[in-house]
Amino acid sequence: MRIIKTKNYDDMSRKAANIIAAQIITKPDCVLGLATGSTPIGTYKNLVEGYNNGDLDFSQVKSVNLDEYKGLPRENEQSYFYFMHDNLFKHVNIDLNNTNLPDGMEPDSDKACAEYDAVIASMGGVDLQLLGLGHDGHIGFNEPNDEFDKETHCVDLTEMTIEANKRFFASADEVPRQAYTMGIATIMRAKCVLMVVSGADKAQILKDAFFGPITPKVPASILQLHPNFILVADEAALSLV
Ligand code: F6R
Repeated sequence: MRIIKTKNYDDMSRKAANIIAAQIITKPDCVLGLATGSTPIGTYKNLVEGYNNGDLDFSQVKSVNLDEYKGLPRENEQSYFYFMHDNLFKHVNIDLNNTNLPDGMEPDSDKACAEYDAVIASMGGVDLQLLGLGHDGHIGFNEPNDEFDKETHCVDLTEMTIEANKRFFASADEVPRQAYTMGIATIMRAKCVLMVVSGADKAQILKDAFFGPITPKVPASILQLHPNFILVADEAALSLV
């Protein structure tokens, strides 16, 4: 595990984007695993800037997202499909045929998840997986006590996650109760895992995840065993370690 300590959110975003940029420059047809949530937004902004400056070319890049709410249509502004278009895809020259998210509108969970695993396998796996960290230690939608060895699967969201995500919806009632997510096994197979963490509110869980025991109670803790895991976190998030 490599830890890159940054001054603040902007510094974290720039450094994380630089790592992704290096991946794109050294392997133009790389497979990027992408995340949503508030933390990576600044990272995406920096990547868009890199594209606008002429430093980055996304024309051959392929992407797979971590997760998607079950039952939200793509046009819904809270869908992760919408988020990715809004924050990255529509601003760069990525071929939309090369971008992938689980199909939230497929009601058959087994089918949706098997199809998504097949997509990831057909691409030869993920070169670099970007992650955020949930307050309960979740990565993707792999909630505490989930098993470590799952592929893409359907999860029931915990009250904590529904509570955290309700800020994006009109009310907690509108937050979908289920999601499709890459599993820990899928995430652990990525050649490189890059996590971005910012803010004092993440300090305790960051400490638990990376300076405590490896346990399914803190899903992110498994990343301690990943051979190429880079944590880019700001001073506030690292304040307890
Ligand atoms: C996003 C995702 C989630 C978030 C996590 C942190 O695709 O899968 O695991 O990374 O909930 O979210 P933020 O960055 O909003 O604190």
